[in-house]
Amino acid sequence: MPSLQIIEASTSGHTEYVVGLLTDLLRRDLATWTLLVKRAEEAQAADLLAGDVLLLASSTWNTGGQEGQLNPHMFALLRDRANDVDLTGRKVALIALGDDRYFYTAGAGAHLQSFVAEHHGVEIIPMLTIVNEPYGQEEKVKHWGEELMKTVQGNYELRITSYE
Ligand SMILES: Cc1cc2nc3c(=O)[nH]c(=O)nc-3n(C[C@H](O)[C@H](O)[C@H](O)COP(=O)(O)O)c2cc1C
Repeated sequence: MPSLQIIEASTSGHTEYVVGLLTDLLRRDLATWTLLVKRAEEAQAADLLAGDVLLLASSTWNTGGQEGQLNPHMFALLRDRANDVDLTGRKVALIALGDDRYFYTAGAGAHLQSFVAEHHGVEIIPMLTIVNEPYGQEEKVKHWGEELMKTVQGNYELRITSYE
């Protein structure tokens, strides 16, 4: 059974809310997949390699005193504990949250993309960016979730077919 490993970093609960919307949708419509959800503060490098598809979700923070950074928990995971991980060929999807009161709005997204590129992962769908509170943006999240499902199912079938 294929699996999707989600790693989320959330401080006031916004990212967690978005991931919750997604997991409700995925559990309903992607029943043949195993969904693994872990908080970044509890994750280790090995968790980035645990699923067939990796989904990283982070809000934007002023980590290290500078705006536009990863949430501190995601920063500690990606830039410390998992800094040597090899994502070569791994399928990755990304979610970034932020607030337009900040100059580097949702800047966590660019950091997630840099991490994936530097570690040779493959982004399989354009990143989902949620600016400001996610409440009221449920349709956007669901639409992205549907695109993600189409992509991962397509990818998986493609991979199985190529083995025949
Ligand atoms: C200390 C702090 C710093 C933040 N810095 C930024 C920032 O630089 N850019 C941005 O777009 N949003 C910034 N935000 C806003 C959060 O990213 C936004 O509220 C997000 O929805 C929070 O998600 P979370 O509850 O999952 O952590 C900051 C919020 C806090 C509390």
